[in-house]
Amino acid sequence: MEKLISNWSNVQSVPENYIFPLETRPGEDLNIPVNNNIPIIDLNEAQNGDRDHTIQQIIKAAQEFGFFQVLNHGISKNEMKETMSIFKEVFEMRYEYKKNLYLDDDLKTCKIFTSSLRYESEKVHLWRDSLRHPSHPLEQWIHLWPENPMRYRECVGDFSIKIKELGSRILDLISKGIGLKCGYFENDLAGSMITSINHYPPCPEPSLTLGLPKHKDAYLITILMQDDVSGLQVLKDGNWINVEPLTHAFVINIGHVLEIISKGKLKSAEHRAVTNSTYSRTSAAFFIAPSDDCLIEPAQDLPDDNNQPALRSFKYKEFLKQFFDTNGDTDLLLKPFEVPNN
Ligand code: OGA
Ligand code: NI
Repeated sequence: MEKLISNWSNVQSVPENYIFPLETRPGEDLNIPVNNNIPIIDLNEAQNGDRDHTIQQIIKAAQEFGFFQVLNHGISKNEMKETMSIFKEVFEMRYEYKKNLYLDDDLKTCKIFTSSLRYESEKVHLWRDSLRHPSHPLEQWIHLWPENPMRYRECVGDFSIKIKELGSRILDLISKGIGLKCGYFENDLAGSMITSINHYPPCPEPSLTLGLPKHKDAYLITILMQDDVSGLQVLKDGNWINVEPLTHAFVINIGHVLEIISKGKLKSAEHRAVTNSTYSRTSAAFFIAPSDDCLIEPAQDLPDDNNQPALRSFKYKEFLKQFFDTNGDTDLLLKPFEVPNN
C-alpha cells in the first residue's frame, strides 16, 4: 500500500528507481506542438447519414495513425462526467477502503496496484497507480468490483454496458471497412472487456519519468476516456504526437490482435503516457478483447499481405502470456506463432 504514489505525501523529487534511461525518457518531447493531431470522427453520420463515409474515415485513421477520436457516440456528457468522477474518487479513498483492493496476489480479479503488474521484476517503476478488473460479461464480474465509492458498481456497470455496445458498433464499421462479413466480431472474438483505470499523480520531474512506457495494446480495440489533462502520446512516423483531451470524445486505438486478424491492414500504434508537475491525470481504458480460449488467426477471407508473416491459429491466452513475457516486443512476440515456410 505504501508503494501507491497516490499515498505518498510531499513528493519533492523523483526517486532513483523511477528515472528512465536517457533513450526512453520523454525529455524535450514533453513540449511538442499539437498541430499534427489524430483524426476526429463524428459517429452521428454513420447513424443518420453516410455510413460508408464514416467507414472510410475510420479505416484511413486506423491505417495511418492506429488512433482516432470519436464524437457523437451516444454516451451522454453527464454519464461520462459522473463515471470519471467516481474513477477519480477511487484513488482519493481512505486507506482502509483502498487496502481491501490492494493487490496482494496476482490472481486477484479486481485490484489496485502501482506501476505495472511486474513491480518486483521491472527495472524502472512507472509514475502511475491503477485499478483493473474485467467488466464483460458484467454479471460474471460485477460482484468482485469495489464496494466503495458507493455508486461504483451501479454507475460503472451501466457505463460498461454502453461502452461495450459502442465497441461493437465500431468493430462492425471496421469489419465492413476491411471486407470481413457483418458480425465477424460478434462472438468470442470480442467476448471480454477489461477496465483499466490509470491515475497519474503530479510528478516533480516529468521529463525523467513515464506514466506508461511505449507499448501496443494486446487487445482488439481500446476505448479510452481521458479527463481534461493531456498526457497521451502516439508514435507516428518516428515522432511523438500529443493526443489532446477533447471534451466528450473517446479515443479509440487499434490493438495488436486486430492488427493480426486484419493481416496488417490496420495498424496498432505504439503509445505512452507522460506525466506533468501540476495536475493529476486520470484515464479509463476499456480493452475489448477475445475470450481466453478463443482462437485467433489472420482472417482467411482477406488477401495476404506478403510483408506479414503467416501465422498459425493460437488461443488468445497463449498470445497474452507471450505478450507479457516479451514485454510486447512485436518481433519476438509473433515468432512462436509463425508458420515455417519450408
Ligand atoms: C493504456 C494506455 C493511455 C493513457 O492503458 O494502455 O495506453 O492515456 N493508456 O492513460
Ligand atoms: Ni495502451
